Amino acid sequence: MGSSNIDIPKVRVGSSSIPLLGFGTAVFPFVVSETAKESILHAIKLGYRHFDTAANYKSEPSLGEAIAEALRLGLVTSRDELFITSKLWCSDGHRHRVLPGLQSTLQKLGLEYLDLFLIHVPVSLKPEAAYEVPFKEEDIVAMDIRGVWEGMEECQRLGLTKNIGVSNFSCKKLDQLLLTSKIPPMVNQVEMSPLWQQSKLREFCEKKGIHVTAYSPLGARGTVWGTNQVLDCEVLKEIAEARGKTVAQVALRWVYEQGVSLLVKSFNKERIKENLEIFDWTLSPEDCHKISQIPQQKGWDAIQFIWDEGPYKSIQEFWDEEV
Ligand code: A2P
Repeated sequence: MGSSNIDIPKVRVGSSSIPLLGFGTAVFPFVVSETAKESILHAIKLGYRHFDTAANYKSEPSLGEAIAEALRLGLVTSRDELFITSKLWCSDGHRHRVLPGLQSTLQKLGLEYLDLFLIHVPVSLKPEAAYEVPFKEEDIVAMDIRGVWEGMEECQRLGLTKNIGVSNFSCKKLDQLLLTSKIPPMVNQVEMSPLWQQSKLREFCEKKGIHVTAYSPLGARGTVWGTNQVLDCEVLKEIAEARGKTVAQVALRWVYEQGVSLLVKSFNKERIKENLEIFDWTLSPEDCHKISQIPQQKGWDAIQFIWDEGPYKSIQEFWDEEV
């Protein structure tokens, strides 16, 4: 590609190398978006190689079409140059539905395998709830994490995904999973930004050899679970001004400097490019100190999964008090 193509640093995780900056595709409400394919293709042109989708985002077909088009255009020479993550939705969060769930994902993407398959949320929905959001609270049921994980392991053994992992898991749930798993989770994908720094979880994951991927590094503004608090943060604004960067770049750079991989969503051409420009400069120790003092506030609290008669009766219970 042209000279604007940026080589994104990678880290070795399990059997794969993960590009540390990835591209998110969730747009709420979850609908097939006209601009998704175009944005993904543009991102590939600029050098993004890591793409994140999920069964319930409805973005799998657009991502699949963009990948096919990128191959046709020669933007990438083979599918292996890409790192593709998708996630098992809660209505498939049952032992016997994991493999069919992945097969449906692969079919929508038009791919033979995923690089990473994640349990989206540590809770299940009755199978008849399908992929619709919002779902009914009566459909929320406890996840048999051990059984579902056996299904995930089966998917990896069959070669349908190179790695398996989880998303939105607390330290406590990871510990439980590690007790019985034959293949340990490679990744825990969680919310992380200067406003929700995840110090404890990151330390735990590092000890256990689990790679952390950050979602909503900009606070996912414009979604039902999102917040403006990252992009409106005064501390980040001051640092951005002093360095001649944007607030988004400061937030992304900070997340990157913590040694995790991160996913940022933009369907705007200028911002897709802006978000890539975080690799040739650093934050100073003073910047990092100021960021470490920012009051912490979680964006997505999982309120949709809290129900008096369900497995989690409070937000604290869902996150095992790590909230
Ligand atoms: P858009 O797609 O119009 O660029 P997150 O990655 O934390 O989920 O945040 C995604 C949200 O942040 C989207 O609303 C996206 O809008 C917006 N966004 C992405 N990149 C930037 C940026 N560089 N500056 C401002 N807003 C951004």
